[in-house]
Amino acid sequence: MNRKELAAHIAAQLKERGVSAFAAAVVLGSGWDGVVSFLEDKTVIPYAELDGMPKCGVKGHAGNFVFGRIGNKNVVVLQGRFHMYEGRSAGEAVLPIEIVRALGVDNLILTNAAGAVNEEYRPGDIMLLRDHINLTGRNPLEGVGAEPDFPVFIDMSGAYDEDFRRELKMLSEKAGLCAHEGVYAQLLGPSYETPAEIVMLRRIGADAVGMSTAVEAIYARYLKMRVAAISCISNMAAGIHSASLAHEEVLEVLQKNRDKLSVLLRDFIERI
Ligand code: HPA
Repeated sequence: MNRKELAAHIAAQLKERGVSAFAAAVVLGSGWDGVVSFLEDKTVIPYAELDGMPKCGVKGHAGNFVFGRIGNKNVVVLQGRFHMYEGRSAGEAVLPIEIVRALGVDNLILTNAAGAVNEEYRPGDIMLLRDHINLTGRNPLEGVGAEPDFPVFIDMSGAYDEDFRRELKMLSEKAGLCAHEGVYAQLLGPSYETPAEIVMLRRIGADAVGMSTAVEAIYARYLKMRVAAISCISNMAAGIHSASLAHEEVLEVLQKNRDKLSVLLRDFIERI
């Protein structure tokens, strides 16, 4: 099965369980799992119950589809993504995007934990992505055949929806979050960056760094979805302070801000 067929196969199994008509899909990044508390009438479907769905192997990524409602809006939340640092191709990393598209979702919210490259940011702040720099060296559209309605030479200017960003900015203040707008650099990982790499990232215009999101945004734009992406700043990037970086610290900062992030997502989806 190619990616499109596999996504259709998995989407069909989800539809058999009676889910449909979504206002939005949310992909939760490292430590964002707890944020699903904003959903009413939740149904959890573990990836492991779906034929053909790969396993999710990273701590802080549960590996579930969570279906639920916010008011009268149906939402699908992906607890757990597939990272290229697990040895997956960019094409494999975007399978969840293909699946939610096959479920009929038009609006995509990508979330992640990120290190601050911009020295004015602080752990616990959020950054709404205005743009990205894909430094993985790979592209999820590699090898994808262009179709008349789905060209592969897609325009990536304005990939992150400006109206979504404006709305999120306004709602973050209400949720008690300090929000910036900035540029996210996706690196392959899984090692964190060196201090020299962080100096380079700052010089080329990045404000935050992580190991996901950019390839997903590329693929979502190819599928003509509207995209918003939110980084929760979990740490200052390497070399800014003397503290060493650890995945546990990333999860801890996310845990502390869980309630505010939940409020932000709930308020945003209500208005989509
Ligand atoms: N670098 C890369 N990825 C990250 C970081 C970081 O500092 N923090 C959270 N994810």
